Amino acid sequence: MSAPSREFDVEAIRRDFPILDRMLDPDTPMVYLDGGATSQRPRQVIDAEVDYLTRDHAAVKRGAHRMAAAATDAYEGARERVAAFLGAPSPDEVVFTKNATEALNLVAHSLGDGDSSTPDHLRVREGDEILVTEMEHHANLVPWQQLARRSGATLRWIPMAEDFTLDLTDLDLLLTERTKVVALTHQSNVLGTINPLPRLLEAARAIGALTVVDAAQSAPHMPFDLAEIGADFVALSGHKMLGPTGIGVLWGRYEHLAALPPFLTGGSMIEMVHLDHSTFAEPPARFEAGTPPISQAVGLAAATDYLSALGMAQVADHERALTQRALRGLAALDDVRIIGPALAPERTGAVSFDLAGRHPHDVGQVLDSLGIEVRVGHHCAWPLHRRYGLHGTTRASFSVHTTAAEVDALVDGVARTSDFFRSLS
Ligand SMILES: Cc1ncc(COP(=O)(O)O)c(C=O)c1O
Repeated sequence: MSAPSREFDVEAIRRDFPILDRMLDPDTPMVYLDGGATSQRPRQVIDAEVDYLTRDHAAVKRGAHRMAAAATDAYEGARERVAAFLGAPSPDEVVFTKNATEALNLVAHSLGDGDSSTPDHLRVREGDEILVTEMEHHANLVPWQQLARRSGATLRWIPMAEDFTLDLTDLDLLLTERTKVVALTHQSNVLGTINPLPRLLEAARAIGALTVVDAAQSAPHMPFDLAEIGADFVALSGHKMLGPTGIGVLWGRYEHLAALPPFLTGGSMIEMVHLDHSTFAEPPARFEAGTPPISQAVGLAAATDYLSALGMAQVADHERALTQRALRGLAALDDVRIIGPALAPERTGAVSFDLAGRHPHDVGQVLDSLGIEVRVGHHCAWPLHRRYGLHGTTRASFSVHTTAAEVDALVDGVARTSDFFRSLS
């Protein structure tokens, strides 16, 4: 990971994001606190896509003309830059997908689709176990349910504790010699909880299980080093890390990718095609069937360059201070219950709360009338909400461009929302 090349000056950062000037109505500036759902994009990302589209666009890896070469260079160059951001040993370990959901489906599908030529540790079969956690986003739960259904494997999960962290009391019982895959999120999209990956992945490795980390929420907000994490597969989402929609990443150890069967099939992922059978290209092409999201990959690379220039440690410090401020402010309000660990640094800036007796959709609407854009509902983590007896929560999430004043506006807005509902009863 390279050293930051610019000062972390939030006002200067805000000038990079044209959308932050938007007014929701003539008197209401927008306070965007929903980067956890999708982040806004700095001009550098928008410009990178526009530059590519206005200068270099063509189909990649097809055609002998110079434009095809320019587009291929842009696309493969983007892969190299994303690999550098992640600390990947080789760009060939970076597979571009549509989003984190597709990256996780790719692994879950391919692990269930091997044949006698696939190494045993990359084949999930009847009698095997897949271990997830109760806090997973549906993107890292449903694909494993489906794999269990197709293969006859058993799905198990690490339960939640009362303090909004994983309950690891029975970890030794949950990890057995049958456990083939341990798939878990680095950071909860609802609770902000950062999971103890080193401990969990080491325990998984010790019994020979493959590890899959959903880093959709963590990679945009904290230093992220694949070597340190030590997983077998990691999934990321471009649009949560200041990049475009329509692009995600599956990073996988090359030896695994090289031994796994493909997920989607068709053009660009083959070695030879006969009428009755085909052979497949080496990774990453094997997992990138069809025309890929080219300008989106270029935009994602610009986003990773942008984050690298800021320095992920500085990003984390900035967002930690905002999180602490929000937690203090919200916890002081009557009727507000924080749904997540009480203090940073064991958590990051996805701050969910319950306003007693109020439906999160109503809370979100009142906050929106004040210009404060937050996410409401179960945030695609239904089992987690059920565990705590909640139908949904209201979630504010912080980004590189979030200011302390915006956090104060959130706290004030929640206080006013609470007063508003009380005035009705
Ligand atoms: C933890 C986590 N994993 C996976 C996803 C899925 O990301 P995407 O919708 O980009 O596929 C999300 C999106 O909210 C998420 O928060």
